[in-house]
Amino acid sequence: MRIAITRAVSPSIERCQLTHLAREAIDLGVARAQHRAYEDRLVELGCQILRLPVEPDLPDSVFVEDTAIVLDEVAVITRPGAASRRPETVSVAHALAAYRELCHIEPPGTVDGGDILRVGRMLFAGLSSRSNEAGLEQLRTHASRFGYTLKPVDVRGCLHLKSAVTQVAEDTLLIHRDWVDGAAFDDMELIDVDPSEPFGANALLVGDAVIYPRAYSRTRERLEGREITVKAVRMSELAKAEGGVTCCSLIVQL
Ligand code: GLY
Repeated sequence: MRIAITRAVSPSIERCQLTHLAREAIDLGVARAQHRAYEDRLVELGCQILRLPVEPDLPDSVFVEDTAIVLDEVAVITRPGAASRRPETVSVAHALAAYRELCHIEPPGTVDGGDILRVGRMLFAGLSSRSNEAGLEQLRTHASRFGYTLKPVDVRGCLHLKSAVTQVAEDTLLIHRDWVDGAAFDDMELIDVDPSEPFGANALLVGDAVIYPRAYSRTRERLEGREITVKAVRMSELAKAEGGVTCCSLIVQL
């Protein structure tokens, strides 16, 4: 049984944080429809949706991934790198308290969940404009109690580690090597994104399938060529807010 924590798109999303993208108009109605379709894919993959109340004054609050790292034994509530995003953690912590012991990243540490790629008991942890060394050290302390190893990885040119690399099968990662060094993942099989699709490395593995943006058809062919089941979603409006498919949920395994 899996819970997927989500939150509907905020009416203020047009004021979202942007780091590597120019601001474009976001169609709120389309964004909400795309988000509901994304939730439908999660349900098809066996998740029960726990949708948090909309946050009208928190523009980035649909991107719940950044607010917590949910491990099997504990949930680490983050301190997001963008100060405007820190209030998002309150309602997420409240929801997660029903399922996990909680611990917290404290100042001066910052961590965005989008920088933490968990593969088994390994946490690849992006050093980015959002997650700093103090934050990653705190995460290492919390997670090492339960046998997890944390490996810092430099990220360049994109927002989060998971903009550059995500897990698509038990021992396989999808990667855009301009943004992260593939040598950091030396025990894993790597699939490169198609060179024409630099934003195509963000996939959400749920069970044996991945939720993946319809826009990146060439990379999708590479995934399907490796026998990976792909559930395609339209993410055009949330992509304008610098969000991807991993950003929009927190999966809690029960
Ligand atoms: N707009 C997503 C973020 O910057 O956190």
